[in-house]
Amino acid sequence: MNVALTIDGIGVSFPGLKAVDGVSMLIQQGELRVLLGANGAGKTTLMDLISGKTRSTEGRVFLFDTEITNWEPHRIARAGVGRKFQIPSVFRDFTVRGNLDVASCSDPRVRANLGIGISRARRARINEVLELTGLADVADEQAASLSHGQTQWLELAMLIVQDPKLILLDEPTAGMTQAETHKTAEIVKGLRGQHTILVVEHDMAFVREIAETITVMHLGKVLAEGDITAIENNADVRRAYLGSHGIGVEAA
Ligand SMILES: Nc1ncnc2c1ncn2[C@@H]1O[C@H](COP(=O)(O)OP(=O)(O)O)[C@@H](O)[C@H]1O
Ligand SMILES: [Mg+2]
Repeated sequence: MNVALTIDGIGVSFPGLKAVDGVSMLIQQGELRVLLGANGAGKTTLMDLISGKTRSTEGRVFLFDTEITNWEPHRIARAGVGRKFQIPSVFRDFTVRGNLDVASCSDPRVRANLGIGISRARRARINEVLELTGLADVADEQAASLSHGQTQWLELAMLIVQDPKLILLDEPTAGMTQAETHKTAEIVKGLRGQHTILVVEHDMAFVREIAETITVMHLGKVLAEGDITAIENNADVRRAYLGSHGIGVEAA
């Protein structure tokens, strides 16, 4: 098995606070890893450190064999780290398919010509991703007409067509209905094997549905790692979550 992401003792200090403190983690190629932890545990900051948004003060990050520690964000993105942000960056006036045409095409000249010059293979891939994200039925609708959930799936689809080596998802079900959350879990599960994913998620129903290995962060450190049963029965995790009514009950 190939290790897609190696995090070796990464850390960063903000004034008066060590937000991420010597975190180490290995994620295998094709793995779906869930990152869990109470508010302020350092999950988003860890993603910022991986994607280059925040510069680390200690430790190293490798994407496969390439060290990407503290590279500029655009360079890390180009190396194959794709990140989905909360705020949608879809082109509202374009169709769903139009958005995927743009996203799947790295050549700005082709971007300008929208659709022209998109190879048959790329078209097939776009159709595949439309199916995978449940958007095939709305492929020809304007992005502006999509529901909140569908817009998030389009964002995800735009990320997937770029075939990143690692996908970072920070709370992808935020603001979603229960049905949308369930569907998102289905979509993410469908990516397993093909894509390597690190997902921060609070919704325990979602976590139970998709989780293989879970990493729990607490106060900037890795507190525990294991499958859902091991995590729910872990004494340290239970102690850390006591203030928020236990891990299995409510969102952290
Ligand atoms: N740019 C920043 N400057 C100062 N403090 C920050 C900054 N970003 C995050 N923090 C702090 O770092 C801690 C971890 O935050 P964050 O990574 O957002 O946690 P999580 O995503 O797990 O909720 C929090 O205490 C937060 O207030
Ligand atoms: Mg966060």
